[in-house]
Amino acid sequence: MVKYTIAVLPGDGIGSEIVPPAVNILKKIGIKYDIAFEFKEALIGGAALDAVGVPLPEDTLKVCHQSDAVLLGAIGGPKWDTLPTHLRPEVGALLPLRKDLALYANIRPVILYPELVSASTLKEEVVSGTDLVVIRELTGGLYFGEKKREKTATGERAVDTLVYTTEEIERIARLAFETARGRRKKLTSVDKANVLESGRLWRETLSRLAAAYPDVELEHMYVDNCAMQLVRAPKQFDVIVTENTFGDILTDQASMISGSIGMLPSASIGGQVGLYEPSHGSAPDIAGQDKANPLATILSAAMMLEYSFKQVQAAEDIKQAVASVLNKGYRTGDLVQEGKMVVGTQEMGNLVAGEIV
Ligand code: NAD
Ligand code: IPM
Ligand code: MN
Repeated sequence: MVKYTIAVLPGDGIGSEIVPPAVNILKKIGIKYDIAFEFKEALIGGAALDAVGVPLPEDTLKVCHQSDAVLLGAIGGPKWDTLPTHLRPEVGALLPLRKDLALYANIRPVILYPELVSASTLKEEVVSGTDLVVIRELTGGLYFGEKKREKTATGERAVDTLVYTTEEIERIARLAFETARGRRKKLTSVDKANVLESGRLWRETLSRLAAAYPDVELEHMYVDNCAMQLVRAPKQFDVIVTENTFGDILTDQASMISGSIGMLPSASIGGQVGLYEPSHGSAPDIAGQDKANPLATILSAAMMLEYSFKQVQAAEDIKQAVASVLNKGYRTGDLVQEGKMVVGTQEMGNLVAGEIV
C-alpha cells in the first residue's frame, strides 16, 4: 500500500470550514484506491499568531517539509491587518512558506462547469466552454523584491521593487510551454513590457525560449489588455503565464468566468513538496456561517492527487463527483442560479464525498 503524509493547514476565517470536507474526500479516495494518507494538522496565519505569537511557526515549516504535500485553507483577516508587516499572515506566513518550499509556479485552472454557465456574471455565449489555465510566477516579481519604508521631511516613502532574473523567467516559461504543449498549444505571455524593464526581460526571454517549442504558438499581451480580453472573450485563451502580482489579480477576475471565486483551485509546485490551496482568501464576511463554497479546496485536493501523487484517476473521480453534485442541482450561496438547492459548506462537502464510491 502506498503511503503519503499530508500537512493540513486550515488557517483563518473560512479555512477551518473548507479544509475538513477536502480531507474527508481524500480519506474516501484513500479507501477506494488503497492509499494510506496520514494527515498532520499545523498552525499558520492568524491562528498561529493567536496560539504561539508568530504567523509561521518552526514546527509548521518542519511538518510541511516532512510531508509529501500541503493542503492549505486560507490565512489573514481584519484582526491581524494592523500588525507590523513581518508578522502579518500574508507577508509573515504565506509568502515565506511558498518561498521556503521553492514553489515558483502557481497553477490556477479556470474551468466553467456547464451546469454553472448561468452562475457567471458574464453572458452565456461569452463564457460557455471556457477552459484556460493561468500559470502565475510565485516566488519572485513585485512580491519578493526589496521593500522599504522610511520617513521623509513631509511624510513617508514606501518602496516595492519588481525584480526578475533570466533564470526565474526561464523556469516558469518552460513550465508554461510544456503545459501548453499538453493542451491546445497556445501560450499567452502577459507582461507590461511597454513600461517595465522587468517586463522587457520577461518578453525577450519568452521569445527566445519559443524556438525550443515550435509546436506551441506564443503570443505576447500587455496585462491591461489581458484584463479586458479575459472578460471580452475568455475562450481565446489556453495557457497564460505571467508575473506574480499580475497573476494574482487576473485570476480573481477570471474566477468569475467559472461562476465564483469559490470554484477556483490552485496548485503551487516547483519544489519537493507541493502546496494546494483555493485561490480565494479567508472570506471574513461569511466565516463561521457554514456558507463558504468548499469546492475550490476540494478541487485543489484533486490537483494534489494529480501533481504530487500522480493519481490521475483519483483526481478525475473528485472532479466528476463535483460535476455530479452540481448536475443534481446543489449550490452554495455564492453560485446564484434560479431554481437550485442552496446548501451549506458541510452539506456540499458531504454530497461530493457521497459521490466517491
Ligand atoms: P476573499 O477571497 O477572502 O473574499 C472576497 C469575497 O469573495 C468575499 O465576499 C468572500 O465572502 C467571497 N468568497 C471568497 N471565498 C469564498 C468561498 N469559498 N465561498 C463563497 N464566497 C467566497 O478576499 P478578501 O476579502 O480580499 O480577503 C480576506 C482575507 O483573506 C485577507 O486577509 C486577505 O489577505 C486574505 N487572503 C488570503 C488568501 C490565501 O490564504 N491564499 C488569498 C486571498 C486573500
Ligand atoms: C492568493 C492571495 C495571496 C497572494 C495573499 C494572501 C498573500 O491573494 O493566494 O491569491 O497574493 O498571493
Ligand atoms: Mn489572491
